[in-house]
Amino acid sequence: MTNDDAVWWREGVLYQIYVRSFADADGDGTGDLQGVIDHLDHLEWLGVDGIWLSPITPSPDRDWGYDVSGYRDVHPELGDLATLDRLVADAASRGIRVILDLVPNHTSDVHPWFVDARSSRDAEHRGWYVWRDPRPDGSPPNNWRSVFGGLAWELDEPTGQYYLHNFLVEQPDLDWWNEDVRREFEEILRFWFDRGIAGFRVDVANGLIKDRELRDNPAATDDDPEDVRRRGQRQVHNMNRPEVHGIYRDWRGIADASDPPRVLVGETWIFDLREVARFYGATGDELNLCFNFPFVFADLDAETLRRIVETTEDALEPFAQPAWAGSNHDVGRFATRWCGDRPDATRCALLMLLTLRGTPFLYFGDEIGMVEVPVTGDDVRDPAGVLGTQPGRDPGRTPMQWNAGPGAGFTREGVRPWLPIGNARANNVEDQRRDPVSVLRLCRDLIALRRETSDLRSGAYASLPSPPGAWSWRRGPSTIIAVNLSDGRVAVPVGPGTIAIGTDRSRDGETADGDLSLGPWEGAVLRVAPA
Ligand code: GLC
Repeated sequence: MTNDDAVWWREGVLYQIYVRSFADADGDGTGDLQGVIDHLDHLEWLGVDGIWLSPITPSPDRDWGYDVSGYRDVHPELGDLATLDRLVADAASRGIRVILDLVPNHTSDVHPWFVDARSSRDAEHRGWYVWRDPRPDGSPPNNWRSVFGGLAWELDEPTGQYYLHNFLVEQPDLDWWNEDVRREFEEILRFWFDRGIAGFRVDVANGLIKDRELRDNPAATDDDPEDVRRRGQRQVHNMNRPEVHGIYRDWRGIADASDPPRVLVGETWIFDLREVARFYGATGDELNLCFNFPFVFADLDAETLRRIVETTEDALEPFAQPAWAGSNHDVGRFATRWCGDRPDATRCALLMLLTLRGTPFLYFGDEIGMVEVPVTGDDVRDPAGVLGTQPGRDPGRTPMQWNAGPGAGFTREGVRPWLPIGNARANNVEDQRRDPVSVLRLCRDLIALRRETSDLRSGAYASLPSPPGAWSWRRGPSTIIAVNLSDGRVAVPVGPGTIAIGTDRSRDGETADGDLSLGPWEGAVLRVAPA
């Protein structure tokens, strides 16, 4: 394992922490930064190289931190700057780097910039947001729709203009044509880099710049993906503008000029992988990592996934490093979405995530195969769930299941957690740590194998011929991975080799010669003779 500052994120494993749900140290039912510090032991034992914290900045929490009311501070419910500094230092002493979430597309409507902006048409920050006069009949300037449903424009009666909000009404969009906005965010990057933050995950990375003329979005067609059809329009003018790339070239300059260089990870919610590839920059001068949502939303089907991985490999320039995730705070948990809560499938999915060429992102709880938890009625916290315009995201955000005790080790006995806790008696970290063949041990052993195997850290990917239902690939000269994503037994040609780690741990160390027989939803990493 290299600890090289420039490549740690290429070879390492990243781990997303939704802070409110990770560990509640002060007993108020909400996770906090001290809770993260208290569980660094777990992360070090697991072997992750970096953690990405979902927004920790102050926020009125209309969208749980993704509506920022101050970019240079810590949300009082989560801690303070001193606690964050301690977290960064403690993590560093264990070889773990800390990445923060940056939300540059919009602010909270209670952010002082917006409070000022809406105070008058001549306010200093008026031009920091996207304002337009109503059309002659009083209607909004154009047809843009918000991601959370309804029109993306809100009339500000006192000043008589509409402002743009691609998300909630309480999340006004910043105007990235405005040079002052750009300068401000460059300073925000420097502020956190100076505090030892290893980089940023950039929220809504493809959305920052809007069409300068505010042209109407074209109507969706029958060929469009489901969410586009539901919205009724293609988002080609209110996001996905080519001009956004200039911003990332500027930021990359700042990140690379920092000592050590910092990493920029994009939430590139885009379904054309050639478009995703553009966010790495023509010469590798934009984002370092871009999330791959076609992969996230694919079925756990061998043919589908193989095609997406091959398309990704084709689309990316040699310098561009893929990023793989199955879960996050928006899309929910892969153990449920991909695997239908079947542990065998979850083991296969973890083995795949940790052995593809690229940087894997685990979401807290993935390491124990945590499943989604139904959240209904007055437990619902997600605005998307409350509005009912799209499925709520709470089921994938419920608290970490640390142990089988009261509060699941997340919070204290008798405290009501901010979201309900799943079945921690059936699945928790403590029990899985004791079980040598648990999902958790598999995950940890796969991460350790990655560290000690250069093929897995940096070897090239090549698909191998495999029977229907199975998918196998080579990494570097001497590592083969095979997964059977079907209900039948398969025989995968692998040649002579030895199983380094199998999802069925009783097969670790088994030798193969010719075909590897895999039962339903079984997978293995093999060491083979160099190709
Ligand atoms: C991103 C975040 C999501 C949030 C949205 C608006 O997609 O991941 O949680 O609701 O941006 O900020």
